[in-house]
Amino acid sequence: MRSKSYKELANAAIKAKERAHAPYSDFRVGAALLSKDGRIFTGCNIESSSYSLTICAERTAIFKAYSEGVREFEAIAVVSDDREFTPPCGACRQVLIDLAGNIDFVMVNAKNKLKVLKLNSLIPFAFTSKNLNRNRGIKG
Ligand code: THU
Repeated sequence: MRSKSYKELANAAIKAKERAHAPYSDFRVGAALLSKDGRIFTGCNIESSSYSLTICAERTAIFKAYSEGVREFEAIAVVSDDREFTPPCGACRQVLIDLAGNIDFVMVNAKNKLKVLKLNSLIPFAFTSKNLNRNRGIKG
């Protein structure tokens, strides 16, 4: 049994979206990451005036969790104001599969409908720490 429902996770993401700092794109995103011990780490997108230094809501959430020492996760919910589902960008797919593994990616649209996909399906054949570890100790 899951400790928190995905509806509850979606509501946390919706709340986190209110704290988005998106003056340049005006595209506000909220995320809520559920850890295996039942905690929720929220995130929002934070844009920089040097645009490329912007960070997405998903990465804000997982970096917050890692910085608190949490390493095991079940799911992440993500919401924007779009009536369509918002898929994660390529950078977030990479960081999430690498740092959270094959968790559930829960997309929430502006009508509060949920669509759940496994992260593996969003980034198949991903490069992760396993690829690095296989080559440890091999020189030249
Ligand atoms: N963004 C996210 O935070 N997460 C996504 O899944 C898609 C894009 C942000 C980055 C930027 O602040 C704005 O949305 C427009 O790209």
